[in-house]
Amino acid sequence: MKILGIESSCDETAAALVENDTKVISNVIASSLELHTKTGGIIPEVAAREQLKYILPVIKEALQGREIVEVDALAVTVGPGLIGSLLVGVETAKTLSFVWQKPLISVNHLQAHLYANWLEGRTPVFPAIGLVVSGGHTDLVLIKDHHEFIRLGGTRDDAAGECFDKCARLLGLGYPGGPIIGKLAETGNPKRYPLPRPMISQDNYDFSFSGLKTAAFALMRREKKINPHDFAASLQAAIVEPLVEKTLRVAEDYQVKTILLAGGVSANQFLRQQFSQRIPLPELFIPSPKLCTDNGACIAANAFFSNKAVSWKGIQANPGLEIEEGV
Ligand code: KG4
Ligand code: ZN
Repeated sequence: MKILGIESSCDETAAALVENDTKVISNVIASSLELHTKTGGIIPEVAAREQLKYILPVIKEALQGREIVEVDALAVTVGPGLIGSLLVGVETAKTLSFVWQKPLISVNHLQAHLYANWLEGRTPVFPAIGLVVSGGHTDLVLIKDHHEFIRLGGTRDDAAGECFDKCARLLGLGYPGGPIIGKLAETGNPKRYPLPRPMISQDNYDFSFSGLKTAAFALMRREKKINPHDFAASLQAAIVEPLVEKTLRVAEDYQVKTILLAGGVSANQFLRQQFSQRIPLPELFIPSPKLCTDNGACIAANAFFSNKAVSWKGIQANPGLEIEEGV
């Protein structure tokens, strides 16, 4: 069985063909990153206009010359994300589903990120804890099985990726900030600049990054000459430590069998190292960096396991879609 996964929730336009649950046949991603680098961040309308240009060529490339008859179903991200961007993928998928007479499966972008962990030859065992860390979300999710995702906590304000991006912008480092800060931090001293680890000792599964962002801004104003490597390393440690601590705590409280990382920030080398040092490999799942950021392959993988094909008529973009709230 082959599923064509389509993703357009933020600035990427992506499509992938995945076969028999987890074999990636193609994974095509077009990004309008260069345009956003110029403006220091995403301008939603600019992103959506670019996606309109890319969506059909990207789908065509993902099919790799195959006849439509070889595709069994389509899957598309319906939310969360930017409404203009989501509409490009959702309306394209609905049209193709109608014209090709193929079932269409709607996918939650946040859950789909976690499915990148099924695409690289190992199978996570349930119950699992998922940490989804992206530009717009930071969520701790209990996954009891493929149909039961419960959000146990997450950020109360900014997402971890947003903190990377905004701090990098303030330093004039460019966009997106996460990879730039990660690279600078490789040769920096994480103890040079004291920054808070918000909510790290609180007895809950929540995070907060907006106070850290303010503390980083204040530090930059106070210090006449800031060392960008040491600043990047200090900021990165302040973001990563609460992520690791709270994930390990929730994993222990819920006695899970595996821990899954997902989302753009899980491409961060320091975050990956910190988890790898504390959790043995059989229990830890971290996608390869290409599958951490937005892609169509994890959309298709999620669709295989959710197994809820419906008619295109019932599918709508939902920018505010969340993972179901738990306790
Ligand atoms: O999951 P994603 O591609 O898109 C969203 O759904 O948001 O995540 C994008 C976020 C951005 O904030 C970006 O700065 C961050 O992921 N990111 C990283 C790294 N690569 C991407 N953050 C830290 N280190 C990285 N290597
Ligand atoms: Zn994402």
